[in-house]
Amino acid sequence: MAACFSEAVSESLADARQRVDLALERYTQFPASCPDRLGEAIRYSLLAPGKRLRPTLVLWSAEACGYLGDEAISAACAVEMVHCYSLIHDDLPAMDDDDLRRGRPTCHRAFDEATAILAGDALLALAFETLARDFHPTRLAAAACAELAAAAGATALVGGQADDLDGQFSTPDLGRLQSIHQRKTGAMIRVSLRLGGLAAEASAEQLCALDEYGDKLGLAFQIADDLLDVQGNEATLGKRVHKDNGRGKQTFPAVLGVDASWREARRLIDEAQAALAPLGSQAGKLEALARYVLERNH
Ligand code: IPE
Ligand code: IPE
Ligand code: MG
Ligand code: MG
Ligand code: MG
Repeated sequence: MAACFSEAVSESLADARQRVDLALERYTQFPASCPDRLGEAIRYSLLAPGKRLRPTLVLWSAEACGYLGDEAISAACAVEMVHCYSLIHDDLPAMDDDDLRRGRPTCHRAFDEATAILAGDALLALAFETLARDFHPTRLAAAACAELAAAAGATALVGGQADDLDGQFSTPDLGRLQSIHQRKTGAMIRVSLRLGGLAAEASAEQLCALDEYGDKLGLAFQIADDLLDVQGNEATLGKRVHKDNGRGKQTFPAVLGVDASWREARRLIDEAQAALAPLGSQAGKLEALARYVLERNH
């Protein structure tokens, strides 16, 4: 039964990933005014085989609120662009100093540091261009841009990243750790769901359900990422393992231990699934995805 359940979600995920990949390919056909090397670096990182979790959340939250058209794809691409920029910068020597991402050398290793910084900059700008131009319904495009900007900014993703680096030097503290994870990872997951909701012109009640699901899922996702650093396999993950501890990062397994971290992630996933109740059976894919976040091996 469990195998069928995860097979069904894997197929739906592959489907969403394919739609997103095709659209990302189209959004990165740069004219000659984009320097070749910069364009190559952007495409190298963005079109690399990521899971496309956040864009999938955009598409499936729109669906969960009754929208079945194809217009949410622009928002799906925009969140993946922001996410990919954040990964390129996260891997830089001044940050996590990683050499492997999505099974390939990190952007600054494959190109050079300046090109990687600029590729990230360009992706961040492209995300907002994409959303401002192509978000549907058009009258909600400014609201969508504001939501994504807030999730990517100093009080969310960037702030969380700043504290994550600073956390290397402070003592373990569960409250602070949760706050870091919610900002550096949770905020982008939450906004992905909200953008899908906006595309579907969701009701306040539907958005509220998506917010609660997103908060729990986002935290569980980063706990699973921390656990995969301890227990995962480098070849399957496509990134290095056993790095967080050496860097003195505050992580869930470091603060709570491995078993309690799994328990906490499972509890959050149960709560995330329960939060979907007001959306009814239309939220079936989101419900399955919550389980996948826990069971994933990459
Ligand atoms: C990695 O995100 C960075 C975190 C926020 C933990 P993903 O695990 O979604 O990475 P990709 O997009 O599949 O490469
Ligand atoms: C990264 O968290 C979060 C963002 C990129 C915003 P991590 O540093 O744990 O992600 P990985 O493990 O390098 O993918
Ligand atoms: Mg990091
Ligand atoms: Mg990192
Ligand atoms: Mg990590």
